[in-house]
Amino acid sequence: MTTSTQRGATIIGWGTALPDLIVTNADFEARLDTTDEWISERTGIHERRHGGTTAGLAVEAGRNALNMAGLTGDDIDFILLATTTPDYQIPSTASQVQEELGINGGACDVNAACSGFVYGLVQAHGLIAMGLKRILLIGSETLARLTDQDDRNTAILFGNGAGAVVLEAVEGEGQLVSFDLGSDGTARKLLDAPIGGYMNMVGKEVFRKAVTVMVDSAKISMASANLTTDDIALVVPHQANIRIIETACSKLGMPMDRVAMVLHRTGNTSSASIPLALVDALENGRVQRDDNVLLVGFGAGMSWASAVIRWTGHLPEGNK
Ligand code: COA
Repeated sequence: MTTSTQRGATIIGWGTALPDLIVTNADFEARLDTTDEWISERTGIHERRHGGTTAGLAVEAGRNALNMAGLTGDDIDFILLATTTPDYQIPSTASQVQEELGINGGACDVNAACSGFVYGLVQAHGLIAMGLKRILLIGSETLARLTDQDDRNTAILFGNGAGAVVLEAVEGEGQLVSFDLGSDGTARKLLDAPIGGYMNMVGKEVFRKAVTVMVDSAKISMASANLTTDDIALVVPHQANIRIIETACSKLGMPMDRVAMVLHRTGNTSSASIPLALVDALENGRVQRDDNVLLVGFGAGMSWASAVIRWTGHLPEGNK
């Protein structure tokens, strides 16, 4: 889809949160039948964070984003919280975050698994096009809770964390140039977690499908924006496995020096992974004004989501 709206949005603040507890590959090596070498080579992950709650991490990331934008909860019309690990069945995790940040507006969760942040980003633009002024969008997860820590197939992959952005309405075109959201429900059994149970995953098949949907979705978003790989200054992929990212980028002809990466220190944080990688890139001066940034994710469902953003929003001092 190419976006068509008289009222777009730009990102005016961002924030992240990671719990303090670092779990290294050596920690797994000490108690599971695995090695640091196996995990590093097959996944690119060296450490991930455990602990915290989904709401607690979301509040911290959301507060950091509000502070950066010079706003308080009062200035926000709506909070969208992407998560696949809510703290409660009822109510939404967004409700607790809303109370703690003092936001007087709508609040709801979005569950599109690891594609959730990009789904939420597009939904936020839709709400802004309909008249809302400012939205707090957060991806927050406590996946360590949903993962059997005695299962070497899954425990090593996932971690906890949160990332948030504040979106503000602008007259005319905003940052979002194009997007592609999709899902294939027939593949939902490849990665699932029953209520009260742990995550099950058919790793190899998820890997194969992930590469296909990332490449296809990225191509759709770039084509809708009339762009090619050469026009993309930075790709921010879902941080699941370095080999998935490398394979997809090689098929797209995208050099790895144009790819945002935090996976080595966060593991897979599902809907928090794209905002964590985006914020890391922004703060390290990897985005300049008017750069085309491609976000692309995939996850359980099997869902996928991509978007091209032309960066007209806030930038840290120094990179203009
Ligand atoms: N340490 C050591 N060995 C392990 C292991 C671990 N942590 N986890 C699995 N193995 C073993 C397997 O049991 C298997 O042993 P076998 O050959 O004796 O049966 C062997 O390593 C190879 O397993 P395989 O599944 O073929 O490895 P792989 O190269 O496909 O890597 C994943 C496994 C999970 C890392 C990889 O498939 C993957 O990343 N898939 C995508 C998962 C994902 O991204 N999920 C989230 C989506 S949002």
